[in-house]
Order: sequence, then structure tokens, then C-alpha cells
Amino acid sequence: MNPNVRIVEVGPRDGLQNISQKVPTNIKIDLICKLYDTGLRAIEITSVVSPKAVPQLSDCRDVLKSSLIQELLQNKSLRLPVLIPNIKGIEIGSQYGISEVAVFISATEGFSKANINCTVDEGIARARSVAQEAQRRGLAVRGYVSCIFTDPFDGPTSPTAVLKAVNALIGMGCYEISLGDTLGVGSPSNTRKLIKFLDNNGVPLNRLAGHFHDTYGQAVANVWEAYNCGIRVFDSSVAGLGGCPFAPGAKGNVATEDLVYMFDKAGIETGVDLSKLVTTGTWISQKLSMQTGSRAGAALASK
Ligand code: HMG
Ligand code: MG
Repeated sequence: MNPNVRIVEVGPRDGLQNISQKVPTNIKIDLICKLYDTGLRAIEITSVVSPKAVPQLSDCRDVLKSSLIQELLQNKSLRLPVLIPNIKGIEIGSQYGISEVAVFISATEGFSKANINCTVDEGIARARSVAQEAQRRGLAVRGYVSCIFTDPFDGPTSPTAVLKAVNALIGMGCYEISLGDTLGVGSPSNTRKLIKFLDNNGVPLNRLAGHFHDTYGQAVANVWEAYNCGIRVFDSSVAGLGGCPFAPGAKGNVATEDLVYMFDKAGIETGVDLSKLVTTGTWISQKLSMQTGSRAGAALASK
């Protein structure tokens, strides 16, 4: 059966990038393989960024070149984006046969400066050069807009700034634009208002995805609201891992287990085996010596 919603698992990238203790490369590879075994068919596998900015993912080359990941990269039915900020990143990624690139810009100046050390307009220009180079190499390109509701330094984000960023990403050829509530401050009413605003301003909803962090416990509700507004693609992270080193105080992504549980209960097909996902969430939480951030995961694991 074709899934009714598509889940983009970002645990191996967003989930791990902010963890201070060094996670061994083989755990990262095992995590990607276990996520694949749950039925997930879109997994962001790593980023190729400055190792000074994100030391945790500085072993991205070792992840990409491992035989298990190389095998997955051969499978053309999978989407395995790699987050890339610049041409250097695409050159490195291409050496390992990546099939898809995720470019990322901020709707707001403060986070843009902190995250990628440039203004919003410079970030758009840089993302455009990466997207063009990716397309020249035959790679698919996904786009992120960060800080759709609030910026950690500048405060509330104007919807027109989000619209500008979304249109820029569509214009550079991103097949999908993921709307990032980087700080996890949004609520269902904010979510509905922003989606309606984008819709009313000509953004095709079938090009949008939701990427909700869960700082205020609203992420599952935001996904449900976005689903009811017509969004059908959601980013999430196993065990609710995640956060950005440049977004102080932000919590992890919405947990993949919680999303699959919610959609299963609504009879909405995700293509993901919840029981295998819970096992994977329990496994990675143990490996990281952390409690799972998934409520459904914790409840199901204790049964
Ligand atoms: P910079 O310091 O302005 O630029 O960083 P640079 O070109 O001078 O590079 C600095 C150093 O990094 C140099 O090394 C480069 O060679 C190296 P040095 O000469 O000092 O030894 N470098 C690289 N190394 C490997 N791969 C590369 C690469 N590029 C440069 N691709 C830069 C600018 C953009 C590179 C930096 O700021 C950066 O890497 N930022 C990425 C930060 C990041 O990964 N943040 C988290 C992901 S975004 C996020 O989580 C939000 C999201 O989840 C959505 C949401 O929730 O909103 C997507
Ligand atoms: Mg994120």
C-alpha cells in the first residue's frame, strides 16, 4: 500500500548533531540501517559541514563510505538526503555517491549569521549555487527554511520572510521545502496561519513539508494541524532526538514513534513498522545513555 504521508527521518543528522559525547561511527551506520529496516524510505543520513561548526558529524565521510551505506545509496527508490551548506560540501559528498542534497537557509538574519555565518540573502545565493551544482550532477535537492516562527536572536519571524525563503528555494529547483520550527515554539494556531498564508500567496502545498521541534510539547499537534491543512510530508527523529547547536534551548524533533502512532490510530498509512521503530528508539537511547524523547516509544517499550 502506498503511504498516505511520507516521513523523512532526520535522526542520523538533526538527531545526532547536537549531542556532545562522541557517538561512534558504527552506531551511526547501524542507526541508519535499523531505520531503513522499519520501512522508512527517506532518511537524512548526515551532513557535510564545517567540522568546527558540528564536530559530532565530522565523521560524515566514514559514514558515507561504509559498505552498508553505499548499498543503501545504490537503491534508487530511497531518498537519502545529505545536508550541505556550500560547494565544498557537495564536492565531498559526490566523492561518496550521494544521491540527494538538502540545502538550508534561514528566514531570519540572527540565526543565519549564527548557523552559516552569512546574511539571509547571502545564504540564499549560496544555497542556489549548491542547488545548481547538485542538479548539474544529477542529484535531487530538498530545501529547508529555518526559524519559521521565531529566531533565537531576533524574535518573531514575519510570514513574508518565510514566503521569500520558500519562493527562493522553489526557484532554485528544490522538489520539496521543509518548514523548520527550529526553536520548537510554534503551536497549532501558528502552524495553520502560516500554512494558510503560504497557500494564499501561491505556494503549492504539495511542495511543503513540516519540520517541528518539540520544545513546548506542541510538535505532534503541529503535525496534525499541518496534515489537516493539506501537508503530507513530515520530518521527525527517532526517539525525539535532535536540536541545533546554534538554536539555544531548542529541543529535539518530533519523535518518529509518536508520529507513526498518531497516524496509525487515524488509519493513515506511513509505511513504517511501529514495533520495529520502538525497538530502534530504545536501542539508540541506550547507546546514547539517554531516555527516549518519544512518549509513544516509552509507553510501548514498557509493555
Ligand atoms: P565559515 O567559517 O564562514 O566558512 O563557515 P569557511 O568557508 O571559512 O569554513 C570554515 C572551516 O570549515 C574551514 O576549515 C573550511 O575548510 C571548513 P579550516 O580552513 O578552518 O580548517 N569547511 C568545511 N568542511 C567540511 N565540509 C564543508 C565545509 N565547509 C567549510 N562543507 C559554514 C561557513 C557554512 C561552512 C559553517 O558555518 C557551517 O558549516 N555551518 C553549518 C552549521 C550546521 O550544520 N548547523 C546545523 C544544521 S541546520 C539545522 O539544524 C536546521 C534544520 O534542522 C532545520 C530547522 O530545524 O530549522 C535544517
Ligand atoms: Mg531541525
